[in-house]
Amino acid sequence: MSEFRKDFPRMNGRFVDRTGAAAQDANQYWPPIIITKEEMEGEVERLASSDLPANGKRESLIVHPLAEPNAPSLTPGIQVKLSVLKPGERTRAFRHNATEVNFNIHGGGHTVVAGRTIRFEQYDVWNHPSYATYFHVNDTKDIQVRLTYSNVPLLQHMQVYLPEDEPKADVAAVHDEGKDDPRKKSPYGMFPITEDGGLLMPYETLINPKSVASHPLHFAWKKVKPELDKLEALGRDYVGRRLYMYYNPTTRRFNGITPNFFATMTIRPPKIVDKPHRHVSAAINYYFYGTGYSTVAGNRYEWKAGDLMLSAPGWAVHNHASHDDYVYELTVQDQPLNIFMESLIWQEDLKHPAIVLGTHEGFDTNRDKAAA
Ligand SMILES: [Fe+2]
Repeated sequence: MSEFRKDFPRMNGRFVDRTGAAAQDANQYWPPIIITKEEMEGEVERLASSDLPANGKRESLIVHPLAEPNAPSLTPGIQVKLSVLKPGERTRAFRHNATEVNFNIHGGGHTVVAGRTIRFEQYDVWNHPSYATYFHVNDTKDIQVRLTYSNVPLLQHMQVYLPEDEPKADVAAVHDEGKDDPRKKSPYGMFPITEDGGLLMPYETLINPKSVASHPLHFAWKKVKPELDKLEALGRDYVGRRLYMYYNPTTRRFNGITPNFFATMTIRPPKIVDKPHRHVSAAINYYFYGTGYSTVAGNRYEWKAGDLMLSAPGWAVHNHASHDDYVYELTVQDQPLNIFMESLIWQEDLKHPAIVLGTHEGFDTNRDKAAA
């Protein structure tokens, strides 16, 4: 018992009177911020100039000034971390119960995750499943710089973030020898109980939900870029976004690379201005080619290649535009989680009402009339 004991003070709940209170949106919308190329390069240089710590992690979180102290993050639900490895360095093994999107923005190397080796180059993206042990290696002659996006802040808000340095060998799923023993299964299974479709699930199913193996998937930029460049042919009148989402099939209709996030690569030809729109999901863009600007809730923000931007705080009306050159960008949004929660209110056209994406019928583009 002793190692699990926690000394809890005796506490009582309280009532908060809401009698007659009008419904109100009490959200604090986080202002957009841009971490400029120069700021990023300065931090990379600072990280690279120190001695390598014992765990091999030269890294900094990129934190919004409004983040809570217990959840240092760039949006309320997305942590972004900047990591650096110099040639010949590696990190020690680590795992946590968060899922990650990794994006290599400079140099190359390899990552060993869930027993798989992923050799990556500049602008490659790959996901890490939850509780998979991993370490990063820089076996190149150039400095390696990575951005990692994760759902750590949500777990911190929930007070259940469980990180672990140097984990022992990955814990295999605990398989009960008698798993297939029919005597251990509920003789009833699930069965309907309500006229409107509800069922009763036995305990044995509750503690052994259908498991779906979650694997790292590596999206190499050199494979993706030619496909993205073909989208330019959609022409200037195309109203959609010229992008591809890095789809992980385990996220099913929730359309993500992890259960929390989608990651999209966009090509924006010169002088393309998006329609203003808004959505509950928050968006973070990393621009790596070209220049442009975003208008967010009436405020204009200029950006350029090498800038990282909290470009769409949830529910702020926004649009993005390119200047005279092509723009390439990686966007990470917490859209899949919001689809799963049925909370993804989306207004694609401000003249029309918002809908719940993933629950209501979604939107369309004019792609059938576009050039490609
Ligand atoms: Fe958007």
